[in-house]
Amino acid sequence: MNRESRGDGKSQAEGNCKEVEPSALKLSPWSRRKFLANSTGLAIAGAISGLAAQLPASARELAGDEDPHTRAKSSSVKVTSNAATSKDSVRATAPAKPRRIIIDTDPGIDDAMAIFLALRSPELKVEAITPVCGNVPLDFTLPNALRLVEIADRTDVPVAAGASHPLVRRLVTSGHVHGANGLGGVEFPDPKIKPVREAAPEIIRRIVRENPGEIMIVAVGPLTNVALALRDDPELAAMIPQIAIMGGSLSGGNITPAAEFNLYVDPEAARIVFDAHIPLTVVGLDVTRKCLLSEAQIQQLEAAKNPVSQAAGKIMRATWERMKHGGEVTVIALHDALTVASLIESDVITLKDYYVEVETTGEWTAGQTLGYDGHAPVRKSPPMDTSMPGPSAPEEPFKPNAKVAVGVNPDQFFHLLIPRLTSTAT
Ligand code: BDR
Ligand code: CA
Repeated sequence: MNRESRGDGKSQAEGNCKEVEPSALKLSPWSRRKFLANSTGLAIAGAISGLAAQLPASARELAGDEDPHTRAKSSSVKVTSNAATSKDSVRATAPAKPRRIIIDTDPGIDDAMAIFLALRSPELKVEAITPVCGNVPLDFTLPNALRLVEIADRTDVPVAAGASHPLVRRLVTSGHVHGANGLGGVEFPDPKIKPVREAAPEIIRRIVRENPGEIMIVAVGPLTNVALALRDDPELAAMIPQIAIMGGSLSGGNITPAAEFNLYVDPEAARIVFDAHIPLTVVGLDVTRKCLLSEAQIQQLEAAKNPVSQAAGKIMRATWERMKHGGEVTVIALHDALTVASLIESDVITLKDYYVEVETTGEWTAGQTLGYDGHAPVRKSPPMDTSMPGPSAPEEPFKPNAKVAVGVNPDQFFHLLIPRLTSTAT
């Protein structure tokens, strides 16, 4: 969801976001203190990158010579549509093999669309779904993820409970955007299936370790689970061929004027991930806020009779109705679904090399992403003028750490998304 545009170009912060009391959090005070004492992400990231450099065969080597960013779009599967307004059948070029992904997510209305898209796309093989707190507390995101796999009739996909709070901060949620239950306020039955016994960081580590170089992480919520997996297992980074992140912005935030929601919720986790020397694709607000759902598209979802399309239609209709009655939400931007779509049709977005830093210390700017594009060195704020010795020039040479989406084709995105949700596979 986009929380800022009212058509007047003004950016609105989410003033009524909800702060969850730390008493509800499960990370022990000892672990939180240990994390704070040991790092703001940098020490850990340094350890990770050092170990990765020492490994004899990195995941990138194990994965072969394929560039994860340029892998072709795919699918030999033909699906026919039962959507009232779509006559298209969906046919794409054949994949050599589906891309194996773990979806780390905080469902979340646009997360729901992303999960449905992934589960209904033969180009992707979803190995696990790992809910994290974010849009709403874990008490909602976890059952929501279970509900979504049930609705999609994909209970073969394991769902593993993730973090119930950010690494070192109080949880801030955005129920006013996603509804108090995270699914637009639409009541779905309680899930019948249960989460697996492993916790999210454990299942991420196990699946990645069992398949080094094969498993891509698609992170469309706060990065807490991914950071915990990397922190607990310093060798893991070298086994992950790519992380696709929905998060950040080089053109202003949506929860504060500086920060995008996912990075705002857990900036320290984001910094660990950005510093981990893993190939990153960053799909931020610069492109996602251009992918706005229309009422006609909601009607298409409602018209198709399959359970996924019906559920998506209900969630989006409820959000649309809430939006019409005022408040911060003025458009429905499908941030997370665009991130998944970019794995299916890579040319739906245009990428550019950036060195991205995550602000973690700002009183007003935590979670802000700063993107250096290489036309000048990387420059930090000037050091404080104390008697302590320090670096004379706060400058480092440019070295990209991420491919950032700078362009998007919204028509292509919706032409992929809507038929995938409304169609019936044959
Ligand atoms: C991101 O924050 C969440 O509200 C959405 O699900 C998306 O992942 C957009 O800023
Ligand atoms: Ca999300």
